[in-house]
Formats: sequence, structure tokens, C-alpha cells
Amino acid sequence: MGRFDGRGAIVTGGALGIGGGCARIIAADGAGVLIVDINEESGASNVNRIREAGGKAEFMAGDVAQESVAAEMVEKAVSTFGRLDLLVQNAYGGGAGSAGSAVEVRPEAWHRGMDLLVGALYLGAKFGVPAMEESGADPEFDPGPWEGAGRRHGDPPAQNVGRIVNISSVHGILNSPRSMIYEAGKAAVIGLTRQMAVDFGPLGITVNAIAPGHIVTERGESMWSETGNDAGFRLFELHYPVRRTGVPEDIANAVAFLCSNEASFITGQTLAVDGGMTIQLQEDIVMDTKDYIAANPDLRTHFDNRDGSTSRW
Ligand SMILES: NC(=O)c1ccc[n+]([C@@H]2O[C@H](COP(=O)([O-])OP(=O)(O)OC[C@H]3O[C@@H](n4cnc5c(N)ncnc54)[C@H](O)[C@@H]3O)[C@@H](O)[C@H]2O)c1
Repeated sequence: MGRFDGRGAIVTGGALGIGGGCARIIAADGAGVLIVDINEESGASNVNRIREAGGKAEFMAGDVAQESVAAEMVEKAVSTFGRLDLLVQNAYGGGAGSAGSAVEVRPEAWHRGMDLLVGALYLGAKFGVPAMEESGADPEFDPGPWEGAGRRHGDPPAQNVGRIVNISSVHGILNSPRSMIYEAGKAAVIGLTRQMAVDFGPLGITVNAIAPGHIVTERGESMWSETGNDAGFRLFELHYPVRRTGVPEDIANAVAFLCSNEASFITGQTLAVDGGMTIQLQEDIVMDTKDYIAANPDLRTHFDNRDGSTSRW
């Protein structure tokens, strides 16, 4: 028995990377997973991977920032799996002109960035929450005799009707220079998650966010091999108390926990899944890093410019 047997799930941006891992892990735990992505080739190949492993998955092509796509993905999940229980909102792909300060970014890039980083999550919930309500609570869920303070009010509250997990970032908690769109968008995901948790908690739907640290995805691997080297990667890892960066499965396992019945009393939270990166005092890290850089003058990272400079200012 998987934790999600019989349930219907949507993973946006589930073709590759973190979303790809989320789709695989949720499907391996029994859910039928609809992957919604603009990358048709990788989406189809992740669906095949899930099916070959014995899981249930379907693909839908679409840009989740579009209202019609958000509506269609919910309809498709319900028509394919008979219900919608889990919504993992993960899709993001950067975009031309998305880097820069408020002075530098163009209004079109700002609007496009906010539409995808924040607007898509609003739209997913707008159409997804009524479908979760319609589907009702997990049929396998037996709450047992109702106990606790709510008991004196009569019927037990709705539980395990739905789960929404929004992917924010450590960039929603801390800020990098000249990254206004991404940082503001990911911070907004945290606020939007709390608002949705307050609004949908009474329906039995929990809403949480994950703030991943540096996760090396398929795309990350190719970025690293373009400009980085081993010494640069090691420098990155030294900034993590656990001395490694993450893999998509690190995030997917946390997402699956937040989707489980065991997490029914957790809502509105942002869980940093970052190997402890955001709990450290920055000034000490800078001092410790100095020696490593002095000993490895040829290090290159994936943040380096092609001319070898690293400056983002
Ligand atoms: N990788 C990291 O280190 C990291 C760290 C923190 C947060 N995140 C967040 O995690 C999420 C996934 O990141 P990733 O690194 O796996 O990215 P990725 O580029 O590897 O995968 C993103 C997926 O989203 C899809 N996508 C992009 N725009 C879309 C759209 N408009 N509609 C539908 N699908 C779309 C892409 O095609 C791709 O399959 C993003 O929200 C990202 O901001 C990533």
C-alpha cells in the first residue's frame, strides 16, 4: 500500500528537475500524477519513466501562468484519475530579462515573472481547491473517534481533503543582488501560502511551501559543466552545514511528507529544505571561505561569467 493509493495529483513543471522528482516520488507512493509542463519531450519521458516503474502518470502540455491551462489541468486530472487530492506548484523557468534591480528590469519581464512565480499558484488554487472539495476526503482515511478540543463543537472538522505544496526558495527568505523578480516572487509565494492556509484550512485542505536550497537538477548539471569546475562545486558545498548540495529527491521527499495524512496538522508553513544553509551567520562563512579560495585560485562556479569574472554587481 502506498501513502497516496487512489489519489489524483498534479505536479506543475514536472518534466524535469525538482518537479520531475516530485512526480516520480508521489507516483511511486501510489498517486496518479498529471505532469503539466511546457517541455513536451521531457514531460513524455518522465511519464514513461514513471509507468515503467509501475506508476500512473499522464502528461499535459501548457504554460501554467495561463488561466485556461490552469482550468484545463484540473479538469484533466479529475477526468483521468477520478479525483484531485494533491497539487504541487513548482513550475518556473526564468526568462529573458528576468535578472536585474528595479531600475534595470523592464515592466514586461516583471509582469511575466510575477504571472508565473505567483499568478500561476493563485490560478492553480482557484481551480484546484473546488475540485479537491468536490472529490472529498481521502476515502482510505479513517480519522477514528474524534478527540480533542473540537469535539465539544460536534462533528469532526474536515481533514485530508486536499494538499497544496508551493515551491518557494531560499531566495524567498534571503536576497541576492540584482534578482528582484525572483526574490520578490518567491517571497510572495510564502505570503500567498499562508493566506491560502488560512482560507482553505476549514475545508480540510492544507497549504505549505518548501524553500529549497541549491538543488542540482539536469539543467543545473549542464550549467555547472559550462563554466564550473570541481573546486567551485566544493566551494558551494562548503556553505552547507551538511557539506553537500541537494538533489530533486531531497525536495520530493519533503513534498511527499507534506502531502501525507501524517501532515494534516501542518499548514501555512515554509519548510527550508536546504541542508541548513539559511541558518548560518553569513559573516562567519565569508571568513571561512577566504582560506578555501586562497588555496584554490582556479576555482570556477556556475555563477561565473564566461570571461571568468564572478561579479553580479
Ligand atoms: N534548483 C534549485 O536549486 C532551486 C532552488 C530553489 C527553488 N527552486 C525552485 O524549484 C522549482 C523547480 O526548479 P528546477 O531547478 O527544478 O527547474 P528546472 O528548470 O529544472 O525545471 C523546471 C520545469 O518547469 C517547467 N516550466 C517552466 N516554465 C513553465 C511554465 N510556464 N509552465 C509549465 N511548466 C514550466 C520547465 O519546462 C521544467 O520542466 C522552481 O520553482 C524553482 O524556482 C529551485
